[in-house]
Amino acid sequence: MNFSNIQPPFLNPVVPFTGSIQGGLQDGLQITLNGIVLHSGGTRFAVNLQNGLGDQNIAFHFNPRFEEGGYVVCNTKTKGSWGPEERNMHMPFQRGNPFQLSFLVQSKEFQVSVNGNFFLQYIHRVPFHQVDAISVTGAVGLTNISFQPSGFWKATTAPMTQTVIHTVQSAPGQMFSNPVIPPVMQSGPTYPIPYFTSIPGGLYPSKSITVSGMVLPSAQRCGSCVKIIA
Ligand code: GAL
Repeated sequence: MNFSNIQPPFLNPVVPFTGSIQGGLQDGLQITLNGIVLHSGGTRFAVNLQNGLGDQNIAFHFNPRFEEGGYVVCNTKTKGSWGPEERNMHMPFQRGNPFQLSFLVQSKEFQVSVNGNFFLQYIHRVPFHQVDAISVTGAVGLTNISFQPSGFWKATTAPMTQTVIHTVQSAPGQMFSNPVIPPVMQSGPTYPIPYFTSIPGGLYPSKSITVSGMVLPSAQRCGSCVKIIA
């Protein structure tokens, strides 16, 4: 698999955000947004997969609205005119909560997943290869937008080569008793890189964080870090 022409991620994009997608959309491409729904900045946010950096031609407008119990509007805008709305009366996002939102491009539709769970599909109204930009607006903060091309998942679910175990210590040199977990060969869920997530319960002595993965042939360096976000 050649990963050299992957669109690099947008890191900490400031909303409202618009960015080009190099090479446009391809069948099998997955776009993943990690972020948090804000309490401020209105009652809606939107992700638009669109043609160009303007807002006149939007192939897929994905628009969660925290109104009337919460629902999600999907639509297409062509030459400035909205088409008929498709409304999903479920709300998979919660204000104040982090989320992971993925758009998988398939030949007939976009498949949308939220926090790893399939949420809805949207049948293409315009050819998806017209899409060459993404924009995000509204009450949302983003840590990253990343792109996983077709074949990425197959390549990254190859047998694991290494398991790294970080153990939290209470003070330098003082290690709390922790069951010895030998490095194991295992496969499990895969995540888009760069991957950001919160740590439920935070850190405390004896807590272990295990990072398993495969170093890509094209890799020059890789790493992990734990950030404290106040
Ligand atoms: C309109 C709204 C637009 C867009 C559109 C979708 O009412 O002003 O921002 O969400 O609905 O159909």
